[in-house]
Amino acid sequence: MIRVGVNGYGTIGKRVADAVAAQPDMELVGVTKTRPNYEAEGAIRRGYDLYAAVADSAREFEAAGVGIEGTLPDLLDAIDVVVDCSPAGVGARNRSTYEAHDTPAVFQGGEDADVADASFNARASFDVARDAESVRVVSCNTTGLARLFAPLDEMYGIEKAHVTLIRRGGDPGETDRGPINDVVPDPATIPSHHGPDVNAVLPGVDVDTAALKVPVTAMHTHSVTITLREPPTETAVHDLFEGERRLFSIPERAGIDGAGKLKEYAMDVGRPRGDLWENCLWAESIHVSGRDLSLFQNVHQEADVVPENVDAIRAVATDVPAAESIARTDEALDVGLRSLLADDERLRKPITADD
Ligand SMILES: NC(=O)c1ccc[n+]([C@@H]2O[C@H](COP(=O)([O-])OP(=O)(O)OC[C@H]3O[C@@H](n4cnc5c(N)ncnc54)[C@H](OP(=O)(O)O)[C@@H]3O)[C@@H](O)[C@H]2O)c1
Repeated sequence: MIRVGVNGYGTIGKRVADAVAAQPDMELVGVTKTRPNYEAEGAIRRGYDLYAAVADSAREFEAAGVGIEGTLPDLLDAIDVVVDCSPAGVGARNRSTYEAHDTPAVFQGGEDADVADASFNARASFDVARDAESVRVVSCNTTGLARLFAPLDEMYGIEKAHVTLIRRGGDPGETDRGPINDVVPDPATIPSHHGPDVNAVLPGVDVDTAALKVPVTAMHTHSVTITLREPPTETAVHDLFEGERRLFSIPERAGIDGAGKLKEYAMDVGRPRGDLWENCLWAESIHVSGRDLSLFQNVHQEADVVPENVDAIRAVATDVPAAESIARTDEALDVGLRSLLADDERLRKPITADD
């Protein structure tokens, strides 16, 4: 069993903790909080052991009647891998603590690339973690692009990719980011930082990105145009995506016409927290013209990096091969959403009352 601790139990940390707890080869030893708020209560209700992220706050937990098992150093002494899910920039400050405890670390995409020995995406760069003491799981947007580009690059070769990212303004819980009502180029400079971040896990892909922020909380939307080296057919592209469990094609007849309904669908099919771990590709947007492939995809920023974190833990702590780790993660979480209403009748399953 790989013993795992999660330092920082917020939007990403609570999801990573649940995903780790679901793995047959991992044990979630504990999670940290800086204060005894509603998320601390959530961790306790799930039966997770709590540790104080900051030693000074131990008394605050005591005053609130919230039992803790110790502080961050105690957690680090009890685990094989720490997943740092603290706010962007705090991870870099935590690095020396992890090194002092000789604890391999998985960082998040809000940190600069140099926080870790390597940048990680399971589909694009799993093996970089083999000799690494620490990895950084790239951001939600970069994860979404890497998953899309990797199979296309392998099958056709990517000559050039252009992406416009329409970024959500904040997560649903980030009340301090609103209320807002605007569309903001962010960053205003082109290309944005997302292209170089994709190159941290897919160095061979030539990609330019531009990004805007809009006042929504549900998901990011990517408008993608890729010039491939070999011309594909639309059918072949659909088939290629179908073979990737972390890509979900939204069929036209499902009537899902926006991120709101997509999240509603996720809740209807029983996804925890309404999470969509997969890239969500609008099937009807897939368009081929010569060597140019265009499409829209949506990325659930709170969720797509979660299976990647699980694979990153295995990649730094074990010799489990990439394909086996990815399959194990997907099986344990039930990643691989497929609609019963697939446009392609070859992929459609009959719907019965029992379903
Ligand atoms: N949210 C996204 O869309 C998203 C997507 C991909 C990657 N990421 C990246 O994931 C990382 C975490 O982001 P997030 O969205 O999960 O942030 P978040 O919701 O703010 O959660 C981070 C949590 O860390 C806790 N914390 C604060 N100071 C800490 C410290 N010194 N040590 C340990 N924990 C501390 C805070 O909880 P308490 O103070 O209450 O304990 C906070 O809730 C960032 O690098 C971010 O860029 C975020």
